[in-house]
Amino acid sequence: MKLSGKDLLGIKEMGTEDINLILETAESFKEVLERDIKKVPTLRGKTIVNLFYEPSTRTRTSFELAGKRMSADVINITPSVSSIVKGESLIDTVKNIESMSSDFIIIRHSAAGAPYLVSRILKGSVINAGDGSHEHPTQALLDLLTIREKMGRIEGLEIAIIGDIAHSRVARSNIYGLIKLGANVRVSGPPTMIPWGIERLGVRVFYKMEEALKDVDVIMMLRIQIERQEKGLFPTLREYAKLYCLTPERVKLAKDKVIIMHPGPINRGVEISPEVSDGPYSVILEQVTNGLAVRMAVLYLLSGEAE
Ligand code: CP
Repeated sequence: MKLSGKDLLGIKEMGTEDINLILETAESFKEVLERDIKKVPTLRGKTIVNLFYEPSTRTRTSFELAGKRMSADVINITPSVSSIVKGESLIDTVKNIESMSSDFIIIRHSAAGAPYLVSRILKGSVINAGDGSHEHPTQALLDLLTIREKMGRIEGLEIAIIGDIAHSRVARSNIYGLIKLGANVRVSGPPTMIPWGIERLGVRVFYKMEEALKDVDVIMMLRIQIERQEKGLFPTLREYAKLYCLTPERVKLAKDKVIIMHPGPINRGVEISPEVSDGPYSVILEQVTNGLAVRMAVLYLLSGEAE
């Protein structure tokens, strides 16, 4: 089985068959990751280039490890020490990389749409590792895998996504994916952080966090981008935390077997209290573990090795 198309750019344009294929393949790669020797020859001879124009810990490391676990050659390009600082354009950069026979370019960029532009130019596969406030598809896939693993299903679950919905590529990709797989999604945050018309995506909006949390199965907290405070989206971090920080008291509003998720990096005490992020309902580090299996699955299914 293969994915339709050569690239993975966004969840919006993916069919449920492709999403489910990635989740099932990721489950089988989890078994590889539990072996003593966590390496398979699947992508031997393939070359993967990580091109991250924005900082990353989880996504970049897990793509690198995913490639290495499958015996690919993996190169990391750091813009600050590349010819990008001399003014080389994105298009010229990726064309030059592909001229060295790369098979995959994994790109994170502050401009929404950058991976789509690159995918139209390159013959090899392009994977979107986060483009502006638009999409972060592999984050949503690892979140879907974690929910399915922990809850046994996705269909019919009540899921609250809380925080800066307007600027979150994680929220957007998750909304598309969760709704395609039959979940009921609620979003909550300050009015300045909820995009106008978001209901059209099929979500319910609650400006009061307590109402959004009532009887949910899954709470997905988003990182508050502290840099946005300067743009006046919320008065102070203390005020934001008072209204939207996930505390043990607020967790009690959800179902007894709730799971708590966060894509990372977390701002402790701002959007989530340390007692909750390190507490018994948190699956935050399991999300990171699943990120490796999901990225192995995506690389494998796009590689042409999966016939
Ligand atoms: N979740 C996520 O994208 O984390 P990084 O920015 O560390 O990759």
